Amino acid sequence: MRQHPAVIAPSILSADFARLGEEVQNVIKAGADWIHFDVMDNHFVPNLTMGPMICEAIRPCTEAPIDVHLMCQPVDALIPMFAKAGANLITFHPEASAHIDRSLQLIHDHGCQAGLVLNPATPLQVLDYVLDKIDMILLMSVNPGFGGQSFIPSALQKIKDTRALIDKWVQQGGQKIRLEVDGGVKIDNIAQIRAAGADTFVAGSAVFGAYDYGDVISQMRAQIYQVDHAN
Ligand code: DX5
Ligand code: ZN
Repeated sequence: MRQHPAVIAPSILSADFARLGEEVQNVIKAGADWIHFDVMDNHFVPNLTMGPMICEAIRPCTEAPIDVHLMCQPVDALIPMFAKAGANLITFHPEASAHIDRSLQLIHDHGCQAGLVLNPATPLQVLDYVLDKIDMILLMSVNPGFGGQSFIPSALQKIKDTRALIDKWVQQGGQKIRLEVDGGVKIDNIAQIRAAGADTFVAGSAVFGAYDYGDVISQMRAQIYQVDHAN
């Protein structure tokens, strides 16, 4: 058994934006644990999505944690805004902050859990010296900016390396750290991603592109269950 129970966090990037509140309620009713909220600024990534007003608007629709993934540069001004808008977790890319340690601290100061997001080519070394301030590591398994891309296979080794890093940290007395994977997560690869050591799974198009959200989520859970009970 892993340290953290598996969490399924559908990305509303692939939801129907004209009916966002309803989509949030439906996906949670269908068995999702968290709402993954992708914030893109057309500067750090070549796409433009949602700001804190949308987060605030969906907040009353669910009690599930809202997992805000900032693909924005800079990040510090947005942190208090998303905290006030009801975010529970806020993650950002280290390349987007001039002072990573300060930005992590700022997230905690505003009462949210904090995490760093690593692009496919970003090395794990950026985590050195800030692990004590991190509640979650988010590994991108696509280049950020768009939903519906294919999982980059080299992410699997990176997940294993990160799992080893977290386990060592915990063994040495450090706090628990979640390991989330984002991009191209589907029913047919979630078992491999789980086996590599992930505990939190973002899935956008796989969930919202399906007719029956509950069916996809329960198939994903069944895959995870098989890996967890393999021997
Ligand atoms: C990509 C976003 C992801 C995206 C995942 O930049 O961070 O959260 O919505 O979408 P899928 O699951 O379709 O790859
Ligand atoms: Zn994301």
